[in-house]
Formats: sequence, C-alpha cells, structure tokens
Amino acid sequence: MQSVRIGLIGVGGICAAVHYPGLSLIPDVEVAGICEPNDALRAQRQQEWGIAHVYADSETFFHEVKPDAVVIATPNKFHRELILEALANGCHVLCEKPLGLDYAETVQIYNAAKAAGVVHMMAFTYRFVPGMNFLRHLVQSGELGEIRHARFQRLQDWGPFAIGWRQYKEMAGSGELGDMGIHRLDFAQDLLGPIVAVCGAVRQWEERTRTHDGQTVPRQDVEDWVAWLADFESGATGVFEMGKLTKGYGPDGGHDLAEINGSKASAVYRLHTPHEVSFAKAGRGEVYQTIPVPEEFLKRPGSPRTPGEGDPVRAFRYDQAWEFASAIREGRDAVPSFYDGMRAQAVADAILESAGERRWVDVPR
Ligand SMILES: NC(=O)c1ccc[n+]([C@@H]2O[C@H](COP(=O)([O-])OP(=O)(O)OC[C@H]3O[C@@H](n4cnc5c(N)ncnc54)[C@H](O)[C@@H]3O)[C@@H](O)[C@H]2O)c1
Repeated sequence: MQSVRIGLIGVGGICAAVHYPGLSLIPDVEVAGICEPNDALRAQRQQEWGIAHVYADSETFFHEVKPDAVVIATPNKFHRELILEALANGCHVLCEKPLGLDYAETVQIYNAAKAAGVVHMMAFTYRFVPGMNFLRHLVQSGELGEIRHARFQRLQDWGPFAIGWRQYKEMAGSGELGDMGIHRLDFAQDLLGPIVAVCGAVRQWEERTRTHDGQTVPRQDVEDWVAWLADFESGATGVFEMGKLTKGYGPDGGHDLAEINGSKASAVYRLHTPHEVSFAKAGRGEVYQTIPVPEEFLKRPGSPRTPGEGDPVRAFRYDQAWEFASAIREGRDAVPSFYDGMRAQAVADAILESAGERRWVDVPR
C-alpha cells in the first residue's frame, strides 16, 4: 500500500477529536508533522501523539515536513490562505468546514484546487453517519418514491457564555449558519440535489461577553439562530432550523434530525441513534418503525474502523480520514470535495442575503 505522509495544520478541538484518531487507524498513513501557533498546545500534542516535527508557522512547516497532504482545522478565517499555500506546495488537502468565509472565497479556493490537480476534500463529517448512508440509499434507490418534503434540525443549547473565535464574523464568516447550518446544506443537497432558492431568517440573542472563567471579551456579532425555507431543483421543499439556544431532545440536550417524506415512504435520520433509522410507508395509519442500518452501510468499504466500537456518535467520523487517504491512493476525487463546500456556501450566502432583505433569494448557479 502506498504510504501517505500527512501534516496537521491547527490541532485544536476537532483535530484531536476526529482527524488525528481517524488518521491513526489507517495502515501506512503517517502523521508527519504539526503546524500550530499556540505554543502550549503544540507542545502538548507533540507529547501526546509522539510527533517529532512540530512548527509554529506554516512556511517552516511546509519547508521542513514536505507532506504529501495536509488536514486544515484552523478557525475559518485562515482556511483560504492555508489551502493556497498547501496547493503551492503540491499537497492534497482535507479542509474543515466552512471552506471559506463567503461564496466568492470558496469559488477562488475550488478553482485553485482544481487547477492544482490534487485531491481536495471537505470535512462534512455527517456524510459518514451510518444512518445517513442508509438514508442516501433509500432516497437514491427510489424506495421512498418521489421526494416531496424534507426537514432538517440541529437544535443545541450552548448557554450564554463566550464561544471563542466562532462568535466573530471576521474569524468565522457567519455564526450558526457556517457552524451547524453548512453541514445540513451539504447533506441536504447530497440527498436531494441542488437548492435553487431560499427564504431565510436569523437572530442573535446573546452578547457572549463573559467566558466560563469570568473574563470579559468583545461581544458576539453573528447569529445564534438561523432558519430557512428551501426550494430544491427537483421540486421538493425543505424546512431547516438550527440554533445554539434551542434545546433539543438528545442525550446531550441537543438533537440532529433529517426527515424525508416521499410518495412511497418516509424515513428519518437522527445523529444520536446513528445505527438505526425510522421508516414508514406512505398513507394514513402507516406509522414509523425503527429499523437497524444494514451492515453494508455501517462504514465505508474497507475502512479499518470496527462498527460498534467506541462512542457511536463520534467513531463514524473516522471514515472521513479513510476516504481522504483512499482517494489519494486511488488517484480519484474525494467525496465530499471542495465543489460541495463551494455549493453549500452559495446557498449559505443566499440565506444571509434573504434574511437581510426579508425576501426569497435565488441561489447563484
Ligand atoms: N466537521 C465538524 O464537525 C467540525 C466540528 C468542529 C469544528 N469544525 C471546524 O474545524 C475548524 C477548527 O475548529 P476547532 O473547534 O477545532 O477550533 P479550535 O479553536 O479548537 O482549534 C483551532 C486551532 O487552530 C490553530 N490555529 C489558528 N491559526 C492557525 C494558523 N494560521 N495555522 C495553524 N493553526 C492555527 C489554533 O491555535 C487552534 O489550536 C473550524 O473551521 C471549524 O468550523 C468542524
């Protein structure tokens, strides 16, 4: 098997929770170096993960490590410049969401990656949930019939405290929309095809000027809540709602739900029960039954992960690293790619425009 040397750029929360453990499972994938400007965190990860080559700045990192590929998991503001630098160094890139701060940035990034001829991939992790894999199959195989309606909710309760770089437009691009909404835009379009028009609304409730340990920070300038109606090109309707102050029904006080209503049947995915879906035939009196996700949809083919091992709400995310490494080795496009990151951002920008102008907005094609 071709060995792949991968560098990690930004080794905060998501890198430790998903990228590093996912890559560590794959035979002949080496985490070859780290780029992280936070001195204490860089030293901590070096020790925890036993990585010799760690650097504070990206220029030295690329020069010294010469990775085949990188995973970029920094605050959103830095995605574009780091991707362009990685491409200039001939690297394949897996980038966290959202791809850029706005649609114009994502178009530039996608075009650059395409021109560079490398593998480019988005960390749209929910594409890898077993329940989502099965839902995709049910839609694409026609088992649900013609898809008429769909609804998507990511309801969470983060409380009133400061949430770091995420609460500033300059660093994040947007609030809940770029944080949780962008994933739902991606998997909605993966399941049902392009969204062509939206009618959105946003709200900001909290100022988030206090940290958990009592410090004062500048006030939040992005939305805590976002909702939108969507027209899909297919004719299906979508109803989306996400919030950071919206209690949900899951074990952590939040929930993530996708419900699809077709002419033959309806099916429901829930993140917190990732190994089952609800399914009901169409018609009055037909009620939802819980069905287990069939074995073939529990993980990506060949993935070294053992389904059922570890926290089920986290472990499926390791398949993302497997997809990235496999695309590099097989010389094919990764799924989802920067194209998907760009198309999700096109809709996200249209939602903000719609909310600002209080009217329906067509999504640029
Ligand atoms: N796919 C998902 O489910 C998911 C979940 C959480 C976060 N994310 C995304 O991952 C990214 C990181 O989020 P996080 O929660 O890990 O944030 P974080 O703040 O925990 O970690 C980000 C790290 O990047 C480092 N960093 C900042 N500037 C850098 C630079 N120029 N070069 C290298 N490192 C730099 C920071 O010091 C920090 O350690 C964001 O884009 C976020 O939207 C995705």
